[in-house]
Amino acid sequence: MNAQPPRPAFAGWLSETNDITARFLAAGGVPGLINLAGGLPAPETYPGEAVAALAAEAARESAETLAYGPIHGLPALRDAVAARFSTPEMALGRENVLITTAGMQGLSLVGQVLIEPGQAVACQSPAYLGALDAWRPRRPAWRPIFPERNGFDAEAALSGAQFGYVVPNFSNPMGRLVGLERRLELAEAAEATGTWLVEDDPYGALYYDSEPLPRILSLSGALRPGRYRGPVVYLGTFSKEIAPGLRIGWAIAAPEMIEALAAAKQGADMCTSPLTQKIALRALETGLPEAIRPGLLSLYAKRRDALAAAMAAHLAGLFDWEVPVGGMFLWATAKDPAFDTDRLFEAGLEAGVCVTPGRVFDPLGEDRRSIRLNFTLNDEAKLEEGVRRLTKAARAM
Ligand SMILES: Cc1ncc(COP(=O)(O)O)c(C=O)c1O
Repeated sequence: MNAQPPRPAFAGWLSETNDITARFLAAGGVPGLINLAGGLPAPETYPGEAVAALAAEAARESAETLAYGPIHGLPALRDAVAARFSTPEMALGRENVLITTAGMQGLSLVGQVLIEPGQAVACQSPAYLGALDAWRPRRPAWRPIFPERNGFDAEAALSGAQFGYVVPNFSNPMGRLVGLERRLELAEAAEATGTWLVEDDPYGALYYDSEPLPRILSLSGALRPGRYRGPVVYLGTFSKEIAPGLRIGWAIAAPEMIEALAAAKQGADMCTSPLTQKIALRALETGLPEAIRPGLLSLYAKRRDALAAAMAAHLAGLFDWEVPVGGMFLWATAKDPAFDTDRLFEAGLEAGVCVTPGRVFDPLGEDRRSIRLNFTLNDEAKLEEGVRRLTKAARAM
C-alpha cells in the first residue's frame, strides 16, 4: 500500500511565486498589519442598500434567476452590455457579448481557447498576476512587451504571437496609461498581423485627472464598419466599478470568438449566476455605476494623493515612481539596482506592512527591484503609517 496521497498533476507548474502570492493575499486577515498589497476596493464604497433592493427584486423573479441560465448569459444583460460599449463608429450586438464570472473568468477562457503550449503570448510586462496564474498551466512562451514605452513597435510585438495582452487603462501593477496613438497602433497591428489582442479593462472607469481615452476595441471597430468582427477581445468587469463580490464581467469580441469562449465556459461553470446577472442588469438600467462613480473617484483621488505625499516625504531617496492618473496602484522601483524587493516584502511584514514584490508580476519572474502599492483600500492615516513602516524596513536593509 502506498501511504502517500497522489501528487496533483498541476504541481509541475506551481511556481515559487505562489508562496508569496498566498502570503500577501492572507495579509488582509492579519490583525494590525497594514495591507498595501492587495488590489482591493474600499469596502465603504460598496452600494449595499442599492444592491439589497435589486437583489430582492431579482430573487422574486425566481423562475429565471434561480434556474440555470443560458451559457452566454441573460439575453437582456448581453444586450445592455452591447449597448453600453457601442460607439458611433462601432456597432455591437448580442452576438458580440459573453457574460463571464467576472474578469478573471474571461482571462481563464481566453487562455483555454488561444494558448498552444510552447507558443508565444505577447504579454504587457509587468503583468497582472491573475492573468499569469490563469495562463501558466497552458505553458506559453512568454514574450514580454512594453506598450507604454517610447519606441514600442506594435507589429513586431504582436507578429506570430497566439495573442497580445494589454491593460491600457492603469495597468495592474504599474498604474500606467497606454496613450491614444499607441492604442491605435495596437488596433492596426492586430488587424495587419491577424493576431488576437486581449484588452483587459477593469480600471477604465477610474480616471481621476482627465477624460477616458477611447478603448482599443472602439478604435479597432472604427477600422471596419458594421457589426464588430475585428481581432480585439475586450474583457470588462463590475468588480472595480460596483463591487467584486458580484462576480459579473463580460467578453466583447467577434461572434466566432464569443462562440469559442462560450464553449470553454460550458466546461467551466455552465453559466454565470442568473441571480447576480439580474442584479447587474438592473444596476445598469437604473444607472447605479454612474451614481456611485463621483464618490468613488473623489475618495480614491484623495487616497492616491495621500500615498504620493507620504512616498515623497519618506521614500524619495530610495525609490523612483510616477504618480498614477487613475486606477488603484502606484509602482515604485528602487534606485539601487542591487536592492532586493523580495527581501523588502519580508522586512515589511516584520515591520507591520505588506506590499507586493515586483517579481510576481514579471512573466519571467526576474524583477527584484520594484514594488506595487495599493492606495484604494486604506484611509489617508493608514497609508501614511504604512509608508512609514515600509521606510523603516527599507532603511534597516
Ligand atoms: C488587470 C486585471 N484584470 C482582471 C482582473 C480580474 O478581476 P475580477 O475577476 O474581479 O473581475 C483584475 C483584478 O484585480 C485585474 O487587476
